[in-house]
Amino acid sequence: MKIGIMGTGRMGRGLGRLWADRGYPVMLGSRDLGRAAALAEAMGPNASGGSNQAALAFGDVILLAVPWDTVEALVRSMDGWSGKIVIDCVNALDGAGGASLPGGLSVAEHIATWAAGARVVKAFNGIYFSLLEQPGFSGQAASVFYAGDDAGAKAAVGELIGAIGFAPVDCGPLVAARHLEWLAALWIHLAFRQGWPPDFAFTVLRR
Ligand SMILES: NC(=O)c1ccc[n+]([C@@H]2O[C@H](COP(=O)([O-])OP(=O)(O)OC[C@H]3O[C@@H](n4cnc5c(N)ncnc54)[C@H](OP(=O)(O)O)[C@@H]3O)[C@@H](O)[C@H]2O)c1
Repeated sequence: MKIGIMGTGRMGRGLGRLWADRGYPVMLGSRDLGRAAALAEAMGPNASGGSNQAALAFGDVILLAVPWDTVEALVRSMDGWSGKIVIDCVNALDGAGGASLPGGLSVAEHIATWAAGARVVKAFNGIYFSLLEQPGFSGQAASVFYAGDDAGAKAAVGELIGAIGFAPVDCGPLVAARHLEWLAALWIHLAFRQGWPPDFAFTVLRR
């Protein structure tokens, strides 16, 4: 499974490095080819760098890891989304620590309309970047909640979640991304409004 990544920031390069370390071919896409090449070089032989369009062509799976206010222009500027599995980790925040659910929809639902034919899966939006390399808490893995309409795409994303040590939790269809975006808003509220040190994550207890 080849992975193209758009955005070389904290989430893009953090997840890219982990997947490359696990043997997945990764292309880091960026507006800055030099930055993408340098970051990829540091990630070893499974990583390469290129433009965002090149990352889209490369990946079976595309991680969108750019700020919300840049997503629509980026997605609409490129061709070749049909059939791609798109992992959307984007949160649209309202500036007060809440999710804004623009137009009453999740970010993921918007992306599904802009990226024609893509199989969008919401995932990783509730995981703080500094936790990516430390998914375990006292022997229990933090959960990555994910949602999407395409069973095959969700199976692939579940594999990628598990491959880096998180517990995949399938939350159902893409419309459930609205809940995942609010769940991320709760995390942000606790960390940035309530002063919790950010070394925490959510999980599910079952009986
Ligand atoms: N930080 C977290 O802990 C966290 C956790 C969960 C979810 N998220 C979500 O993940 C996404 C990325 O967050 P981040 O913290 O990784 O952000 P970041 O560190 O600011 O990196 C975002 C990257 O997006 C690219 N970018 C910026 N403006 C762009 C534009 N106009 N067009 C295309 N690409 C642009 C840039 O890469 P290039 O310069 O290489 O193009 C930049 O490095 C956000 O939507 C955020 O809500 C973040």
